[in-house]
Amino acid sequence: MDEPRGRLTRDGIRIHEPADFAGMRLAGRVAAEILDAVAPLVVPGVTTEALDDFIRGRVAAAGAVSATIGYRGYRHASCISVNHVVCHGIPGPKALKDGDILNIDVTVIVDGWYGDTSRMYVAGSLNRKAERLIDVTHDALMRGIAAVRPGNTFGDIGHAIQSFVEDHRMSVVRDFCGHGLGRVFHAPPNVLHYGRAGSGPLLEEGMFFTIEPMVNLGRPETKILADDWTAVTRDKSLSAQFEHSVGVTADGCEIFTLSPAGRFHPTWAA
Ligand code: MF3
Ligand code: CO
Ligand code: CO
Repeated sequence: MDEPRGRLTRDGIRIHEPADFAGMRLAGRVAAEILDAVAPLVVPGVTTEALDDFIRGRVAAAGAVSATIGYRGYRHASCISVNHVVCHGIPGPKALKDGDILNIDVTVIVDGWYGDTSRMYVAGSLNRKAERLIDVTHDALMRGIAAVRPGNTFGDIGHAIQSFVEDHRMSVVRDFCGHGLGRVFHAPPNVLHYGRAGSGPLLEEGMFFTIEPMVNLGRPETKILADDWTAVTRDKSLSAQFEHSVGVTADGCEIFTLSPAGRFHPTWAA
């Protein structure tokens, strides 16, 4: 392993060097291309393990390494979270039904750099209630990203997301958060998707982290199933999530995981 470069802030957040953006750009693009490539396979009747098998093959074909296989005992190349599953859904033999909505989350390692992104898909036709949830969750992520610039704080990101979601009478999940990343998968800080404007650590150029809000149509509470991974809404309400990996620049941020095919949102299908 190379010695980590850059420095740590008082909060233990790594400040990366300008040259490190290139590594994140490549890892982010590989992850985003895999999410683009799986989209045509998301149809009624397909199993989530078939989607995961495809993703595993694409990770290998890209010359990348899956960050999730072997992570704390997890055995899959993706998390696939259907309907009321909030996150960390385990791919399995159950087939998708018409109208199911799902998040697919992929993290790859390319030349030691981590690219972590997730987005929503629909099997078959998207109903209006689900579409509204997906729209609000996507737009909440983009509001959070719009708050990323040196001088703002992590609380500004959380506040932008929470206020937008709650204005739409939906709820932000508190039990999971975004995270620093770079040459590690999960690093400080915890990137909360709720909070007070001006609170939390200051954003500085060279910080790399994810923003990955989970939004529920009902109440925010979650529980973990007996498999020790699958997080679901306690009230069984529908849940959605989008995730980008970003780096703070001098005047804003760079999104490392933009969709090269322009299909980050399911209604933008190519
Ligand atoms: N990719 C997830 C994240 O956004 C983490 C998945 S860990 C796993 O942080 F083990 F569940 F795959
Ligand atoms: Co993440
Ligand atoms: Co992820």
